[in-house]
Formats: sequence, structure tokens, C-alpha cells
Amino acid sequence: MTAADASARYWAIVPAAGRGERFSSPLSPIGVSVPASRKQYASLAGASVIQWSLRALLREPGVRKIVVSLSPDDDHWPVVAAQIEQECPGAAAKLMTCIGGGSRQESVLRGLQALQSHAAPRDWVLVHDAARPCLPAADLATLLNSLRAESTGALLAVPLADTLKRVSADGGLSTVDRSGLWRALTPQAFRFEELERALQDAARAGFAVTDEAQAMERIGIRAQLVAGSADNIKITRAADLLLAARTLSSQRGAGMRIGQGFDVHAFTEGDHVILGGVRIAHRRAILAHSDGDVVIHALCDAILGALGQGDIGRHFPDTDARYRGADSRVFLREVAAMMSHAGLRVVNADITLTAQSPRIAAHSPAMIAILSQDLQLAAERINIKATTTEKLGFIGREEGIAASAIVMLEPAAA
Ligand code: CTP
Ligand code: MG
Repeated sequence: MTAADASARYWAIVPAAGRGERFSSPLSPIGVSVPASRKQYASLAGASVIQWSLRALLREPGVRKIVVSLSPDDDHWPVVAAQIEQECPGAAAKLMTCIGGGSRQESVLRGLQALQSHAAPRDWVLVHDAARPCLPAADLATLLNSLRAESTGALLAVPLADTLKRVSADGGLSTVDRSGLWRALTPQAFRFEELERALQDAARAGFAVTDEAQAMERIGIRAQLVAGSADNIKITRAADLLLAARTLSSQRGAGMRIGQGFDVHAFTEGDHVILGGVRIAHRRAILAHSDGDVVIHALCDAILGALGQGDIGRHFPDTDARYRGADSRVFLREVAAMMSHAGLRVVNADITLTAQSPRIAAHSPAMIAILSQDLQLAAERINIKATTTEKLGFIGREEGIAASAIVMLEPAAA
């Protein structure tokens, strides 16, 4: 076997100038929310689609610079660039942008022009769709390893698994032999000068190609197919986001998570308590550094537990003067933000308040409404129940109040 090309230099182009028409089409299945922005900026597992696609290229140290080809009216890119820099300081220095064209092939050609003063003619250029957020690191490594000194190019692809049918104009069905048929994915890698020649040639001839390999075929340059993972899907329709979220979470080894929380506070002199964010008149008050909302504290601890993020005391210490008398909803909203940043959301939450008094049945709908708002979660996914201790123990003697909570988290589609 020949050695991989030791002198190779790699550059990347990420075409991101598409309009995502199929993504925002009314044919998108009901129940999948379609973000107003283009698909490359749709939220996916705590980031945007393009951010995931770029992460895959950025973590490959061999790639020198990445040109992102943007639509002329794109106003989202600076936000994504800032997020990438924040996540990985120095990463933005690897990124360049250019204005894309009316078709994917034009957008790639503009990317090549932007690389003109950087790349040498024999350098490799990897083209990777902004809309492919689930590229496994191992596939990228395999693709780069397949590029040898004598290679002309390579692309990731997956052999067809389903039986193929052709529908004729009169509605008749026939079966297409699938042997030797593959689905072409990205990245696709070609020599800078050859890719430029192939795309310019196609443009001059007014020939529309749907990937780089097709442009290369036109000028007689063959590419090698490298078997990749079927995980590397392209976001085309809105429903693909859910599949991508699941794929990313399984790639990261994350699935469903469970967490539980428990909190107790003593009563003191006063005339009201705050439970689940609701102020309830009572002959006692809760003694606490914050507002002493045991319902919210138990819920926060349950979510933090599921996230593997310690407990509420670690994030909002009661030694910190900022949290004196604090509205516990602030804690809940912050914990909810941590959860969404981790690409997770609540499936359901079940909370038990243990108190001899006050009685909360009449207040639980208001509590659920508040928790639902702060967690951005449908009310029917939150349950609050209460029990007394039959006058036993410190709760029975009305010296204090307790709450416990349990939550289930799942990977978020958006
Ligand atoms: N693309 C591009 N410039 C274009 C058209 C497409 O850079 N003029 C990019 C897209 O942003 C995407 C990739 O090429 O990252 C693959 O194209 P596709 O999945 O077809 O995306 P869209 O063209 O945006 O979607 P649609 O065809 O549904 O409108
Ligand atoms: Mg398109």
C-alpha cells in the first residue's frame, strides 16, 4: 500500500449560501417547528446546524483555513462566528468568508477564488455542505488518509441499501438494479487547480452539477469513493433536524438522562410563603437565604443532577450576597439555559411537596404555569402533588417544609 501524501496541505470550503427552500416548504411534516431563518442557522442540539458542520472541520488540525460561502443578504454569520470563537478561542482565525452564488457550484467556485492567494495548485480542497452537521471525525480522518500523492480526489459515500423504483410517465413501476449505486456525501476532496478548472468549465458550458465529483467527471478526472457513515445526513427538510439531533446525541454518547432533587427549609415568623414561584398567604414564612422556594430548588437540583452538574448550592452559593432574598425563578431559568446549551430538554417533571401546611391544591395550576414558562415546557409535562406527614416529625409539627423532584431529559431537536 502506498503511503498517504506526506506533503499534503488541506483547505476547506463550506457552501452555506442556499435558501433552504425544501426545508421551509409547507410540505414539512406537521409538529416540526420550522425556524424562520435558513436551515444552516436552525437550532440543533444547543448550537446551529452550520456550527456543528464547522466543528467537524475545525477539530481536524490538518485543515488550514475554511472558507464559508455566504448569501449576500446573510445577517446571521457574525453571531455564529462569535459563538465559535467563544467556544474555542483562536478558531475564528481559521475561518474566512466569501459571497456565494445562485447555485451550489457557483458558491464553491467563489470559495476557490477566496482561497486563490493561500492554496497551491496541488493542495487538497475539501468541500463540505453547511447542512451536514453529523460528519463523524473518523470519516473525515479516513477521507484524508485515502488521499495519496498520486490520487486525483475522493468523496465520502454510502452504498444504497433500499430497493430502487423508477416511476414512468404512465405511472408504471420498474425496479432499478442497485448494484454499484452509492449515495454521494460530503466532504469531497480535489486538487485546487483541477477543481477550479472543472467548475469553471461546467459554468462556461452552463452545465449544472449537483456535487464536485460530477464536475470532475465532466473533465475526465475520476474520484475514489470512500465508504462513510450513513449518520452524515444532509438537512434538507425540517424533519431531518430531529434525526440529526438524535444522531449527534448518540455520537456524543448522550441519550435520555434522569435526575432527582430534594430540599428542606425551616419555617419562621411571617405571613406568606413562595412555592413554585407563587406567593401563598400563610401564618408562617420560609427561613432561607433566597426566597426559600423548595419546589423550584428541588426541581433545579433534579435538572442539574440529570446534567451531571452538581447542585444548586454549587451554582448559586448562599454565601454570595447576590442571592440574598433572590427570586428562585432566576435560578430555574439559568438551569434551563444550561440544559438547552447541553442540547437537552425536559421530557417530564414530577414534584412532591411535603408539608403539613399550607394546602397547595388550589395553587398548583398557577405553579405549573410558572414552571412551564421558565422551562419552556408544555404544562401537561409537569406534575405537582403534595402530601402531609400525618403530623409526624418536623414537617408534621409545622417546623419546616420539604419538596422532592424527579425529571427525565432527552436530546433536544432544536
Ligand atoms: N448552497 C450554496 N449556494 C447555493 C445553493 C446551495 O452555498 N446557491 C449550499 C447550501 O447552503 C447547503 C449546500 O449547498 O449547505 C447543499 O445544498 P442544499 O441542501 O440543496 O441546500 P439549499 O439549496 O439551501 O436547499 P434547497 O435546495 O431546499 O433550497
Ligand atoms: Mg439546493
